[in-house]
Amino acid sequence: MDQRDFALVLVNGLVLMSTYCLAMKQTNIDTDHSALLALKNHITSDPHQILSKNWSSSSLSSSVCGWIGVRCGPFHRRVTALDISGMNLTGTVPPHLGNLSFLVSLDMGNNHFHGTLPRELSGLRRIRFIRLGSNNFSGTIPTWFGPKLQVLALNYNHFDGTIPSSISKLSNLQVLNFKRNSLQGMIPQEIGNLRKLTIVNLNFNSLIGPIPNSIFNISTLEHIHLTQNNMTGSLPEDICRHLPNLIGIYFSHNHLNGLIPPSLSSCSQLHILSLSYNNFSGSIPKELGNLEMLQHLHLGFNNLEGGVPEEMGNLHNLEQFTIYNNQISGSIPKGIGNWTKLVNIGLSGNLLTGAIPEEIGNLHELEYLNAAFMALNGTIPAGIFNISTLISIYMGVNQFTGQLPSDACHQSPYLEEIYLSRNKIHGVIPPSIGNCSSLNRMYLTVNQMTGAIPTSIQNLGNLQQLYLGQNHFTGSIPASVGNCSSLVELDLSVNQLTGSIPKSLQNLEFLKRLFLRSNYFTGVPFSGS
Ligand SMILES: *[C@@H]1O[C@H](CO)[C@@H](O)[C@H](O)[C@H]1NC(C)=O
Ligand SMILES: *[C@@H]1O[C@H](CO)[C@@H](O)[C@H](O)[C@H]1NC(C)=O
Ligand SMILES: *[C@@H]1O[C@H](CO)[C@@H](O)[C@H](O)[C@H]1NC(C)=O
Ligand SMILES: *[C@@H]1O[C@H](CO)[C@@H](O)[C@H](O)[C@H]1NC(C)=O
Ligand SMILES: *[C@@H]1O[C@H](CO)[C@@H](O)[C@H](O)[C@H]1NC(C)=O
Ligand SMILES: *[C@@H]1O[C@H](CO)[C@@H](O)[C@H](O)[C@H]1NC(C)=O
Ligand SMILES: *[C@@H]1O[C@H](CO)[C@@H](O)[C@H](O)[C@H]1NC(C)=O
Ligand SMILES: *[C@@H]1O[C@H](CO)[C@@H](O)[C@H](O)[C@H]1NC(C)=O
Ligand SMILES: *[C@@H]1O[C@H](CO)[C@@H](O)[C@H](O)[C@H]1NC(C)=O
Ligand SMILES: *[C@@H]1O[C@H](CO)[C@@H](O)[C@H](O)[C@H]1NC(C)=O
Ligand SMILES: *[C@@H]1O[C@H](CO)[C@@H](O)[C@H](O)[C@H]1NC(C)=O
Ligand SMILES: *[C@@H]1O[C@H](CO)[C@@H](O)[C@H](O)[C@H]1NC(C)=O
Repeated sequence: MDQRDFALVLVNGLVLMSTYCLAMKQTNIDTDHSALLALKNHITSDPHQILSKNWSSSSLSSSVCGWIGVRCGPFHRRVTALDISGMNLTGTVPPHLGNLSFLVSLDMGNNHFHGTLPRELSGLRRIRFIRLGSNNFSGTIPTWFGPKLQVLALNYNHFDGTIPSSISKLSNLQVLNFKRNSLQGMIPQEIGNLRKLTIVNLNFNSLIGPIPNSIFNISTLEHIHLTQNNMTGSLPEDICRHLPNLIGIYFSHNHLNGLIPPSLSSCSQLHILSLSYNNFSGSIPKELGNLEMLQHLHLGFNNLEGGVPEEMGNLHNLEQFTIYNNQISGSIPKGIGNWTKLVNIGLSGNLLTGAIPEEIGNLHELEYLNAAFMALNGTIPAGIFNISTLISIYMGVNQFTGQLPSDACHQSPYLEEIYLSRNKIHGVIPPSIGNCSSLNRMYLTVNQMTGAIPTSIQNLGNLQQLYLGQNHFTGSIPASVGNCSSLVELDLSVNQLTGSIPKSLQNLEFLKRLFLRSNYFTGVPFSGS
């Protein structure tokens, strides 16, 4: 063979080879095409007719790369991403989907897919992102995902069984989201091998046993969600040692016990600490006052005692602070006046005593003030009624004295609830009450209030419940009560009200409960003006 012949053979060979490649490419494109058509055929409901119209196979030349939700690689034209999330589709996943061997990202979230995930999906060997949240998938958590996987979101489905320990093979996993499934058993210790994990979300399952220590060894972790499981045991003393990046701890609604570790203060990035509804004991560690970033601190429904540490006054970023139903005692520290971003404070059901610090008036973003069922005393700081963002004042069953300020409600456009029953408040209901235009519930039962019920009450068109029983109110029922057209429950019992019962009450078409006993009314009901 001379040189020319050799060249010819070479050229022929190249032509042959590229023809073969083309054919192969075609085959593989057909593979993607038929995999997607198989998926389409497994969809039983497509109410917006998205795929049924768009994933059209009518013209063979039309590439799947132009189909809605499909993305292909720029050169090889194989399907690399499939996003059919939120299309309200119902159906199952066919095994053929596993033939999309170039697929990197699969998003089928927010649909009504059901059934199990076929084993053939193990063919997705380039897959990095799997998002199947908010569907109706069932079966156990598959174990065949490839090691390139970075995001595995199976949240809001019906997966059951245990979390397989082989999950630890997914060494590139960054997000593991199994929220709201029916997972049982213990969290495998092997989870600690996932050295790149930033978010682990196991909220709302039925997991039991202790939180594996290995989880606190994953230094990349930012959020650990375990809300509402059946976790037991206590938190490690040095919980933060390997967690410099931790932002959120969500452990509420479990059966955790022991102390709140003071060393939590070394998780310096911590924004959210939720430990409510457990059985933590001991006191609130003063070290938590060092968590400068802290925005949400939830410690309610535990067995905590001791006081609220003065150091908490340093938490300038706090937005939510709840310690409901513990045995926390002592007084409310003045430092709460530093919590100028606070939206929600929940102190009810503790043993707190003394006065509410005047500094509470500094909390210009406060919406919920919840401090009922304790032994607080002193007058209710007038500044509270100056907080224009307030939605709820819930401070019944204490020993508050003094009067309601005469300018209450001058700037309370959002106030829906005033619960001050069972205190020792005297004086009148200020006529300015009529300015609380959003007021829905007002409870002043069992106090020492006097004077007449102000006629301005007629402006409270949203008022549904008005409880004024067991006070010393005098005068007659103002006819204008009949203008509170939303009223469902009205309690004026055990006062010193006189006169006849106004006819206007008949206008109250939603009224279901009316308590008037133990007053000095005259005449036949509804016979008056
Ligand atoms: C399918 O959707 C894509 C993207 O929205 C659009 O460009 C294409 O024209 C549609 N094809 C058909 C047949 O409706
Ligand atoms: C989704 O489809 C169901 C029926 O399959 C329908 O009741 C519902 O309104 C749809 N939702 C949206 C957002 O299209
Ligand atoms: C794709 O997958 C299905 C089911 O897993 C299989 O039957 C088929 O042979 C595969 N290959 C092609 C080219 O479709
Ligand atoms: C899941 O299935 C149940 C019953 O089969 C149905 O009531 C529910 O709406 C479905 N949920 C979703 C997200 O498809
Ligand atoms: C926890 O365990 C109790 C008793 O076994 C069970 O009644 C409850 O449903 C479980 N809670 C969760 C969230 O799994
Ligand atoms: C934490 O990591 C260290 C070193 O990386 C290892 O020696 C130790 O056994 C791990 N602890 C747990 C509980 O996994
Ligand atoms: C909570 O912990 C206390 C000890 O601090 C223990 O006596 C009690 O039994 C625990 N309660 C529950 C429900 O685990
Ligand atoms: C309020 O915050 C400042 C600055 O962090 C601090 O010096 C002060 O002690 C705090 N006040 C109270 C009463 O805790
Ligand atoms: C309020 O309660 C505290 C603590 O119980 C008590 O020391 C104080 O005398 C009380 N103040 C008033 C005005 O009753
Ligand atoms: C409430 O606001 C009014 C007017 O904005 C002001 O005059 C009054 O001093 C304030 N009261 C308190 C206790 O801050
Ligand atoms: C508040 O109520 C009083 C008394 O009813 C009234 O005089 C005043 O104009 C009201 N102010 C506002 C801001 O609505
Ligand atoms: C109160 O009701 C009466 C009679 O129904 C009506 O004439 C009057 O305008 C109402 N007043 C207000 C402020 O709505």
